[in-house]
Amino acid sequence: MASDKKTDVIAIDGPSGTGKSTTAKMVAKELGWTYLDTGAMYRAVAYLVESGELRIENGEYSQLNMAFDNNNQILINGVNRESEIREPKISAVVSKYSAMPNIRETLTAQQREIGSKQPCVLDGRDIGTVVFPNAKHKFFLTADYKTRAARRLLELQNAGKADGETLESVEKNLRERDEADSKRNIAPLIRAKDAIEIDTSHLTIQQQVQRVLQSVGEVARCNSLNTTPRLQCPI
Ligand code: DC
Repeated sequence: MASDKKTDVIAIDGPSGTGKSTTAKMVAKELGWTYLDTGAMYRAVAYLVESGELRIENGEYSQLNMAFDNNNQILINGVNRESEIREPKISAVVSKYSAMPNIRETLTAQQREIGSKQPCVLDGRDIGTVVFPNAKHKFFLTADYKTRAARRLLELQNAGKADGETLESVEKNLRERDEADSKRNIAPLIRAKDAIEIDTSHLTIQQQVQRVLQSVGEVARCNSLNTTPRLQCPI
């Protein structure tokens, strides 16, 4: 029988460009919890296969040595590959790899191991539905396409990776990834029934963080009083 015990996890799911990782990082810092960027793990696999450093045969691939440094930057075999995994050419192909059953199985197991060892904030697509369905707190972030594309383009420009990219090309990639991520058979991008939805189109990062923290605090307070928390929290 499945356990009703809730895990000390804050699951932040949603499509790209909705502010998940920035929000998750700030919430984790505020609470002193560990932050895990699960998208970076899928990007790492995509990067390694595309660069010929990893082979997938019959859906199987060898174990990867993946870790995060103190700044949440990904280390693969001890080398910082944060910049490489964020390249638009990796964004263009990552959904293909994240739909592969063996890759999902391996990375999901690693995410569960990390998240069950310490209080953890994880952001991704399937955290509240598959990785930690018993998470104490679940959020699903959304935003309109124009806002998401503008945010993503600015991010690429700031990282010096926007060569040849336009609002249109970025929006096209977002739409294609949403389609692939939400239509795949395994662990599709979908809001967990018990996740609080936050439309971030007109919110600042501080407001997003505030909403998550207020809701987390409210659930914690209600648990200690043994009452039901309100599902929406005003800012
Ligand atoms: O969050 P991101 O854009 O860095 O994620 C990269 C890709 O990885 C995204 O297109 C979907 C996939 N992903 C996933 O399938 N499951 C997760 N938990 C996280 C990311």
